[in-house]
Amino acid sequence: MVARYVMSVDQGTTSTRCILFDHGGRLVSVTQREHRQRYPKPGWVEHDATEIWRNLEHMAPEALSRAGVDASQVVALGIANQRETTVLWDRHTGNPVGRAVVWQDTRTDELVEEFAGQPGAELVLERSGLPLATYFSAPRLRWLLDHTPGLYERAERGDVLFGTMESWLVWNLTGGVDGGVHVTDVTNASRTLLMNIETLRWDKDLLEFFGIPAAMLPEIRSNAELYGTATKAVPGVRISAALGDQQAALFGQTCFAQGEAKCTYGTGSFLLLNTGTVPVRSSHGLLTTVGYRIGDEPAVYALEGSIAVTGSLVQWFRDSLGLITTAPEIETLARTVEDNGGCYIVPAFSGLFAPHWRADARGIIVGLTSYITKGHLARAVLEATGWQTREVVDAMNADSGLELSTLKVDGGMTADNLLMQFIADVLPAPVVRPMVAETVSLGAAYAAGLAVGYWPDLEGLRRNWHRAAQWLPSMDAERRESEYANWKRAVERTFGWVR
Ligand code: G3P
Repeated sequence: MVARYVMSVDQGTTSTRCILFDHGGRLVSVTQREHRQRYPKPGWVEHDATEIWRNLEHMAPEALSRAGVDASQVVALGIANQRETTVLWDRHTGNPVGRAVVWQDTRTDELVEEFAGQPGAELVLERSGLPLATYFSAPRLRWLLDHTPGLYERAERGDVLFGTMESWLVWNLTGGVDGGVHVTDVTNASRTLLMNIETLRWDKDLLEFFGIPAAMLPEIRSNAELYGTATKAVPGVRISAALGDQQAALFGQTCFAQGEAKCTYGTGSFLLLNTGTVPVRSSHGLLTTVGYRIGDEPAVYALEGSIAVTGSLVQWFRDSLGLITTAPEIETLARTVEDNGGCYIVPAFSGLFAPHWRADARGIIVGLTSYITKGHLARAVLEATGWQTREVVDAMNADSGLELSTLKVDGGMTADNLLMQFIADVLPAPVVRPMVAETVSLGAAYAAGLAVGYWPDLEGLRRNWHRAAQWLPSMDAERRESEYANWKRAVERTFGWVR
């Protein structure tokens, strides 16, 4: 019998990956390409959407040829993507209108403040489940409409389309100007500030509030259903899933039961807790978001704690400070000292996200004395990720009234044992990592495979999850809580830096 596979595309903030999975959820081949990060002004972060599409066009066939697999053996393709990043393009030429504005970009801070003061602002949280913040798509979409002459009229006529990265890729894969399908999925749509979190449709009042023409919006679909068939990159392959990358990781970690949580440690870190089929409202700074929706089944919701800067702090330590030459070296450097020496780094590079939502915060290093070495700084860099995780878990426990029993982790930073142990210590809770660390890609593959019957049900997928590593808490409680108090004092000092 001819072997069959699912192809997964993980379009992330720094790179795009294309992976083939087999029926056991094992990786068969992997291709990856980075794309350029563009920082034209302080606080601005842009991507070239065409560069990202071209990368995929090259990589998808490459993933097949590396594995000696023919496109006809690929039963489905699923996409996971960086969320909130906003792309506009011309339906008739296929060209993006300017650059994609990335989720970390803070150019809309003043606009967001203006919106917050307008009548109807209270509707935003009520309807979308999200606070008004620069993080989400709607303000940047409005900013682009305001700053490109004639764009609003073109958008009103439906000549210019809006999408997040999955929309852009599906449109291109399915033909682009020659009949590309313009869709998004409930998880990505739930990050725009424009979708009603209960009805899962674009909300007329929110569109009016932000001044967004409905004609430019994609159709909202579930995470696992047939969107179309590729005519480019992998012609003939069915495209049957799209999820925001963090929701894809929740799915890939098989957090299918209410109360299960995962945290993905990448550029930023994102902790999602499955809250079942009813959206839970947070009173502690978390986001109400869609976890996943399979075809016509009821949507499963999640509470999310989004941390903007974790892995990117290590990159900054490497590239801007030059204190290490490769990211993994940070663990070695941190192990040259016993502790942080009293030093804390709060990486509020794009303000602070959950649970604070402070656009006016900027990063800080506190506790410097002449005793501090680069080893202590390395520790403070890693610990920043641990403390930010603790803050988010505290908020989750407070919202749900339950104590998180175990945290499933994935993403690049989970290779750092010192950090994983620190997280277990400060939560305190067991931290576990699965065999397949590529949970974002796996989640997109699972959803795509479910849609076409390659995998029959969620239970079958659960059986593919195997534990590879576990870290148990061992820090003394008194030390933990006194260091946490120091961290909190450091966080407070970041507030109000930008006026
Ligand atoms: O919300 C932003 C998030 O989806 C980005 O994830 O892994 O591409 O940095 P990542």
